[in-house]
Amino acid sequence: LPDPDVASLTDEDVADLLPTPEAESDKYRRGVIGIVAGSDRFTGAAVLSVGGAVRAGAGLVRFAGAEAAARQVRNSWPEAITTVLDGPSVAEVGRVQAWVLGPGMGTGPEAEALARAVLATDVPVLVDADGLTLLARDRSMLRRSAPTVLTPHAGELSRLLEVPSDRIEAARLEHVRRAVDELGTVVLLKGSTTLIAEEGRPVRVNATGTPWLATGGTGDVLSGIAGTLLAAGLSGYDAASAAAHLHGLAAQAASTGKSGGHGPIAAMDVAQTLPQVIRS
Ligand code: APR
Ligand code: MG
Repeated sequence: LPDPDVASLTDEDVADLLPTPEAESDKYRRGVIGIVAGSDRFTGAAVLSVGGAVRAGAGLVRFAGAEAAARQVRNSWPEAITTVLDGPSVAEVGRVQAWVLGPGMGTGPEAEALARAVLATDVPVLVDADGLTLLARDRSMLRRSAPTVLTPHAGELSRLLEVPSDRIEAARLEHVRRAVDELGTVVLLKGSTTLIAEEGRPVRVNATGTPWLATGGTGDVLSGIAGTLLAAGLSGYDAASAAAHLHGLAAQAASTGKSGGHGPIAAMDVAQTLPQVIRS
């Protein structure tokens, strides 16, 4: 029997969720996203997260991070406004409607202080990658006034729940529900299928995607897409669901050739293919 507490998302459902700019729209109304990502050592994650946001249609992307990451973001995406952070404060970044926190930011004391500053704001925050590692050390950072969305793969969820990742892989639905109960956030569990869970709602199963997505950096692109939809005003549950769906469709389109055959994709291809799948 079908499980009534599980739902799948169709292309039509997602099309209905996506914001379309109206005649009187301006970039602020469309959504200003703040991205705190990257470090002197990891600059690619920052570039890919910003790319997901720009190509998903953010009104404005404000990037904040280490000097090397900000430089790479400026070179790759002149559309983004970059701020080099020299301390654990995001006050100088300017007003944003949602934050993405974590990809490539590192897990040292400075990264931890910065994560606390972002989570102390009163706007929605999506936490991914190193941000999740920091949260696993101190879950009290999750006590906040605005919605929080977590986007772990099984290894990251393993650290958050203190459950071995093979046990999570063997019972993904059970563990994504447990994560929502214990952490009180929206949880998007990545993998060959992606599950999106929120308290009191059916777990959504995303059916789009391709095994070619299993390549470094695609998760960073997803964070930028979901953060953009959060900044546009979607709920965490809807933003995460629509982002997973679009991310999978873009990967399928990017990996499919004119002959109908499939081949490798780079994470950046997923970002670059988003406008095409949003159009269709
Ligand atoms: N089929 C379909 N989709 C898949 C598959 C698969 N077999 N495997 C992975 N994916 C999708 C996931 O659902 C997710 O959207 O690819 C994306 C991968 O995201 P992440 O796991 O976050 O990987 P990413 O961050 O891009 O790169 C790997 O994660 O654990 C760290 O240290 C690791 O730096 C590395 C990074
Ligand atoms: Mg990742």
